[in-house]
Amino acid sequence: EVVQIIGRELLDWYNRNRRDLPWRKDQDPYKIWVSEIMLQQTRVDTVIPYFQRFIEQFPTLDDLAKAPEEQVIKAWEGLGYYSRVKNLHAAVKEVSAHYGSRVPDDLETISKLKGIGPYTAGAVLSIAYNKKAAAVDGNVMRVFSRLFALTDDIALASTRKKMEHIALQLIPEDAPGDFNQALMELGALICTPSSPQCLFCPLQSVCNAYAEGIEEELPRKKKA
Ligand code: ADE
Ligand code: SF4
Repeated sequence: EVVQIIGRELLDWYNRNRRDLPWRKDQDPYKIWVSEIMLQQTRVDTVIPYFQRFIEQFPTLDDLAKAPEEQVIKAWEGLGYYSRVKNLHAAVKEVSAHYGSRVPDDLETISKLKGIGPYTAGAVLSIAYNKKAAAVDGNVMRVFSRLFALTDDIALASTRKKMEHIALQLIPEDAPGDFNQALMELGALICTPSSPQCLFCPLQSVCNAYAEGIEEELPRKKKA
């Protein structure tokens, strides 16, 4: 079955190739949350030192909740997109005040927090709580577009929904967080936007775009 092959090949590949990133040391939901917000518009290599300094300065959710906004913004300096840190700080205060300092572990509640969209919600639930939740970002949409030779415009909200539906069918019960991170990692390291490394791809044998030689033409994104 293709679903099982994808799950197994991807997880095997990830276990052999996973990078030892600072937010992969434990499953603290607060740290996973911070890392996912930082990683939204910033590359992994850039994020690493910022993440380490941020967590040294604010080791727990309550430390961040209690910190004055200027200090939090200062710790973010250089990462840019400051609405990310302002929303994160507001949401962390909300969790501290109204959820007993525990990051919510269900999709509905976590999605109400400022700055937590469908991607971040799914990433935190799957990575920190081992919940079967879709975490579909641009990398994942590119991988799915190619793997299943989908020509849907990835700029459309309906396409993201379709991709989330596909993700839920593929995520293995026993390793949702690793599976989601493996997909992100495959998109970042192998199934890259240009010149994907199909010869080194663990999914090559089941990839429709590769079979048709159209990997460079996908994903489809209509010009705005
Ligand atoms: N990009 C977004 N989330 C990530 C994660 N958890 N690991 C590596 N890259 C990512
Ligand atoms: Fe991407 Fe190529 Fe792998 Fe298909 S075979 S998923 S196009 S890297």
